[in-house]
Amino acid sequence: MAADGGKKHQDTRLVHGGSHPEQFDGAVNPPVYRVSTVVSADMEELRQRSKHPPETLAYGRAGTPTHWALQEAIADLEGYKHCLALPSGLSGILISVLGLCASGDHVLVADNVYGPIRLVCCDRLAAWGLEAELFDASVGAGIANQIRPNTKMIIVESPGSLTFDMTDIPAISNVAKEHEILVLADNTWATPLLIDAPALGIDISIHSGTKYIGGHSDVAVGTLSLNDDDLYIRLKWTALLFGYGLSPDDAYLALRGLRTLSVRLKRHEENARVVAEWLQERPEIERMMCPGLPSDPGHAIWRRDFSGMNGLFGFIFKDSISQDAADRFANSLNVFLRGVSWGGYESLVVTNSKDSIKRPVSGWNAPGPTVRLHVGLEDPADLIADLDQAFAAMSDAMAAE
Ligand SMILES: Cc1ncc(COP(=O)(O)O)c(C=O)c1O
Repeated sequence: MAADGGKKHQDTRLVHGGSHPEQFDGAVNPPVYRVSTVVSADMEELRQRSKHPPETLAYGRAGTPTHWALQEAIADLEGYKHCLALPSGLSGILISVLGLCASGDHVLVADNVYGPIRLVCCDRLAAWGLEAELFDASVGAGIANQIRPNTKMIIVESPGSLTFDMTDIPAISNVAKEHEILVLADNTWATPLLIDAPALGIDISIHSGTKYIGGHSDVAVGTLSLNDDDLYIRLKWTALLFGYGLSPDDAYLALRGLRTLSVRLKRHEENARVVAEWLQERPEIERMMCPGLPSDPGHAIWRRDFSGMNGLFGFIFKDSISQDAADRFANSLNVFLRGVSWGGYESLVVTNSKDSIKRPVSGWNAPGPTVRLHVGLEDPADLIADLDQAFAAMSDAMAAE
């Protein structure tokens, strides 16, 4: 029942990848192994268990058959040899940098990546001697000018967090290959389904499975996938040494969510398109931030590199809309819930002031506040009605001021 080397279509591999009912008395899903200690018949067996590879149950934090099923399924979907499941998306990036870079190494970080990643690299790890440098994500092949003899890794995310600007990843990875620099991409937006990460030249693909892979807003999980055997073993040991173990229950929830990712994602995309197309006609809005729309400046890259979109996009209000008014809009929504994170079944909204979006290199010059929407699986007619009444509430409040 396991996928056979990527020959089957993506949806079939999504359903069957990593699945081994024959190992679990025919149970379709692997059981949850709630385990810390694993006992052995003798000391030789105990020593063998602790060796790597192959994968053997040695100690709970080092992984269980539930983890292996998730890892096998994700590696197969992404087209990599290896995947490591971790307790969060953020830890996937942290473990990669900690495991593969050292004090004195130079790491280039796109300035539109998820904010905490910038902080980790440019603040916390910089304090330990990492030379982290931010770059403008639109640089493309121009990244060559920023490469130094000690550059070890380039970190990108496309579309960028909060601003949804697209990065020409192949242009960057071509330059990186010439200099034997690793390209790490946070592919959370794309999920394992919407891009061919190895073909884009991505050496390490990270996902916050907390989003669409889990899909139900009830689990924190991360994955990192890669081809290189030595780097994989190094990263696996780094995670172990730093104590980063995903709980088996969360591995189970992530795998359960993964199986329905394709159908959910298609509905998220369908709903998001209806809502985004309605929004782009609204007079309050200066510009949509939605690479799946032909009007978006990143649409050509999105069309070239991605096979679809999801439910997450944003828009920028005109300069006549204050932060208070934007907040009034968000506070008036009833179906969209106010909350960070995304990728669950529910629709979410969050506003960001002009000043709260940090783009230290490329700058952020939006005329008004921004709104990020996650379009969930509700009926899009109800979502539009909700947005419509929130625009009306905002305009009434502005007229009363
Ligand atoms: C693009 C992106 N990457 C990584 C993360 C971090 O995910 P986690 O909470 O699983 O660490 C987030 C969280 O919002 C995110 O949006």
